[in-house]
Amino acid sequence: MKYQPISFEPFFGWVNRSRVLYSPGVRKELAYELSQLGARNVMVYTDKGLSEAGIVEKIVQQISQSDLKLAGIFDNIQQDARISNINDGAEHYRSSGADSMVVVGGGSVMDTAKAVNILVGSNLEDFMPLAEQAGLWEGAKPLPPHIAFPTTAGTGCEVTNAMVVLDVDSKTKLSVTHPFCNSDIAMLDPELTTTLPPKITAFTGMDALTHAIEGITSVGAEPISDALGLHAIRLISTFLPVAVERPEDLEARGAMLIAATMAGMCFCNTMTGATHATAHALGALYGIPHGIANAIMLPWVMEFNLEDSHQRYVMIADALGVDIQSEDAITAASKAAQAVRRLKESIGLNETLKDFGVQPDSEQLAPLVELAAGDGQISYNPRYVEESDLLMLFTKAI
Ligand SMILES: [Fe+2]
Repeated sequence: MKYQPISFEPFFGWVNRSRVLYSPGVRKELAYELSQLGARNVMVYTDKGLSEAGIVEKIVQQISQSDLKLAGIFDNIQQDARISNINDGAEHYRSSGADSMVVVGGGSVMDTAKAVNILVGSNLEDFMPLAEQAGLWEGAKPLPPHIAFPTTAGTGCEVTNAMVVLDVDSKTKLSVTHPFCNSDIAMLDPELTTTLPPKITAFTGMDALTHAIEGITSVGAEPISDALGLHAIRLISTFLPVAVERPEDLEARGAMLIAATMAGMCFCNTMTGATHATAHALGALYGIPHGIANAIMLPWVMEFNLEDSHQRYVMIADALGVDIQSEDAITAASKAAQAVRRLKESIGLNETLKDFGVQPDSEQLAPLVELAAGDGQISYNPRYVEESDLLMLFTKAI
C-alpha cells in the first residue's frame, strides 16, 4: 500500500526558538557562545551524579579557561523538578550575582533550571503560583542567557518551551509553558553521554520515541512536526539498540541526541496524549521513572488509538522499519505497536506495572485513573478517553 493523504487542521502554528549546535566535543564552543549571548558570570545547574561522574568538570573547564567568571555550581537538583528545589536554585543564582546559566543534565535538571530562569528573569522568589497558572505567556519577556547540554537522549527539554514540575504536597505533576524558557542554545555533545548506563539509555530513549509517536498522532498534529517526529522514529529505531549495546559508540549516541531534540521540537508544538497522561500519574503516585512509565504504557495506548488514527500509525510503522507495502492499512497500522514491543525487548525493557507495585484492583487503580483523566495531555489524544478506558489501559499494563 501507499500512504493515503494525511489530514491536519487547516490552521496551525509552529515555533522553536532554540539554536542547536551538534558535534562530538561541541562543548569547546561554550565560552564563545556564552560571550555572544552577553554572559559574564555563569552559574552551572546539574545534579550530584553528574558532578561525581566528572561530566560537569568537562563543562566547568570550558568556563574556567575563558574570560568568563564561574558564579557557582548548583548540583543539588533532585529527580523531578520540585518547587522547593526550584526556589532554592533561584536563591543561589541571585546571591551569587550570576547573569546567565549553563545546564548539564537530563530532564529533571533541565526542567528545574528552566523554572529557575523564569523566577530570576521575572524577579520572583516562589514558583508555586506560576506552576498553578500553567501557561505563562501573558506579558512574558526574554530570560537571561541559558545554554543546555542534555546528558540523556530522551526528554528533549533542551528545546521544549515547557517543563513538568512536581508538587510534592498534592502529588501532582504540573505542565507549565513559557515562550522563552527553552535554552538559547542546545549544545548536543555525544561525548557527554557515553557513560550513561544501558538501562537509563534504554528508558530515556523510549521517552523520546513516545514524544515522536504521540506528537504524530496528537489532535494537534501538523506537517512540520510530522517530519521531525518521523525522522526521530527512524533514528531511534536504528540507533537506540546500538547505544544500549555499545555505550561508547559516538555515532549512535549522537544520533540519539539529535533524535531526542527533534522529537522535542515535534511534541512541544503538538502536545502528546494518553501515554504521557498515564505516565505522569504513574510517576506522581508510584515514582516510576518517566521513560519507563512511557515504555510500559505506549504500546497499549497505540492499540487503543488504532481505529481512530490508523493512517498515522501506518506512517509510524513505516518509520519503525515495518514493511508496509504488502499490507492493508489496518494491518500495517497495527504492526506499529508490535514494532514498539520488539524494540523494547531488544533493549531489555520488560517491566510491567506490577514490578512497581501496581495491583489489578479497581479501587487501588482509582487514584491513578483520576489523576490521568485530569492530566493536561489527555485532551490531545486522538481517541476520546473515558475513565473506564484508563482503567482498562492500566489493567492491561499490569
Ligand atoms: Fe516525556
